[in-house]
Amino acid sequence: MESAWRIKQAVDIPVMCVGRINGPVLAEEILREGKADLVCMGRALLADPDLPRKAMEGRLEEIRRCVACNTCINSIFKKGRVECLVNPELGREKEMVTRRAPKKRKVVVVGGGPAGCEAAWVAASRGHDVFLYEAAEEIGGQIRLGAIPTHKKELLNIIRFHKRQLELSGVQCFMGRPVGPEEIAEMGPEVVILATGAKPVELPFLNRKMKGVYTFQEALERPESIPENVVVAGGGAIGCEVALHLAEWGRRVSIVEMTEFIGRQYEAMTRKLILEKLKSNGVEMMTKCRIIGYADNSLRCLLGEDEELLSIEAEGVVLAVGTCPKDELFGPLSSMGMEVHRIGDCVEPRSIKEAILEGARLARAI
Ligand SMILES: Cc1cc2nc3c(=O)[nH]c(=O)nc-3n(C[C@H](O)[C@H](O)[C@H](O)COP(=O)(O)OP(=O)(O)OC[C@H]3O[C@@H](n4cnc5c(N)ncnc54)[C@H](O)[C@@H]3O)c2cc1C
Ligand SMILES: Cc1cc2nc3c(=O)[nH]c(=O)nc-3n(C[C@H](O)[C@H](O)[C@H](O)COP(=O)(O)O)c2cc1C
Ligand code: SF4
Repeated sequence: MESAWRIKQAVDIPVMCVGRINGPVLAEEILREGKADLVCMGRALLADPDLPRKAMEGRLEEIRRCVACNTCINSIFKKGRVECLVNPELGREKEMVTRRAPKKRKVVVVGGGPAGCEAAWVAASRGHDVFLYEAAEEIGGQIRLGAIPTHKKELLNIIRFHKRQLELSGVQCFMGRPVGPEEIAEMGPEVVILATGAKPVELPFLNRKMKGVYTFQEALERPESIPENVVVAGGGAIGCEVALHLAEWGRRVSIVEMTEFIGRQYEAMTRKLILEKLKSNGVEMMTKCRIIGYADNSLRCLLGEDEELLSIEAEGVVLAVGTCPKDELFGPLSSMGMEVHRIGDCVEPRSIKEAILEGARLARAI
């Protein structure tokens, strides 16, 4: 913004300001303060092409905000077409037309993460009677954990958008309501959508019942409860983010990863940035190092191809060895003869993009 203003002072032709102008309020501010003559929005309009119309009509809370994840740019390189994490319609405009449902049905959605919320509001906007049950006190699912590190706060915009869409579309939401098969059956649904997400993987020799072992959820939500000298078991995306978070909270952190890669799931640019951040925050990273046990503040590992036995001193270990589907309801409900669908991480843990996309697709198909 300041660069645009300086250029504007030096030239006598119109100047357009561009880069992370993510909403109408900032855009208006730039124009009002005379910092530029025009504003340009790129990703903000991929995330919501209706942004200008919604802004004109004062419907700011209904704007689907870009969360700066750069999935769109990466998808061009990887797939040769553009996709958006938050907007499943981008690049699928024909497939994603929303038509009124031919017959109104009673739909019960279990789970208020991104998959369940997207399915619920789209199904309701097609005319179905939709009931959403969420075990936690608020919607959002794992996004709430993902958005804890400071650099990922923008993910909370997804939850804000879903909250507003659930209200507008008339979904009946029940928070703090974990539901089981019998309770669901008693509701008499015509369609059940399971969007129950994923849960952390635990290892027989390393689990949260053991003294000094913590889940990644505890480490993200209550970093102050984690000891000074800690090992993060697992160097995937969650492990990297937990390690960085704890390091920023002043902990001495090491990552122990079984494979030869730290942050394998990240695309190249993000991985480079994360690795740099981990290094600059003093996080030690050990690869090809397989944990085999933990007791008395000592983590036992096998290092390298020779499987050299190694002991690492650690007052605590944070489990970040992955997540697995939470799909206990599918078997019992299917055996009752109900129409049951699964979407999002309860099929296979992946990302917000797949969760929203599967919710959007299913809601248009029922
Ligand atoms: C730390 C962390 C960081 C992440 N960062 C990213 C990221 O940067 N980008 C990205 O794309 N993805 C990220 N992810 C993954 C992403 O959050 C998930 O892929 C996504 O949230 C899956 O959505 P979902 O709706 O399928 O499940 P979830 O988000 O897990 O939601 C499932 C919901 O179902 C509820 N539920 C479960 N059982 C019941 C029941 N019986 N009754 C009622 N409610 C129930 C749960 O309480 C939960 O709220 C991250 C995950 C974690 C843990
Ligand atoms: C999916 C996508 C592809 C892009 N491709 C190019 C490109 O090939 N060359 C280029 O100079 N800029 C490219 N850009 C940058 C845009 O032209 C624009 O400067 C930028 O997206 C503006 O910032 P904003 O998205 O934060 O509004 C691309 C941006 C996106 C989102
Ligand atoms: S993919 Fe991510 S960065 Fe690109 S427009 Fe969508 S939310 Fe924004």
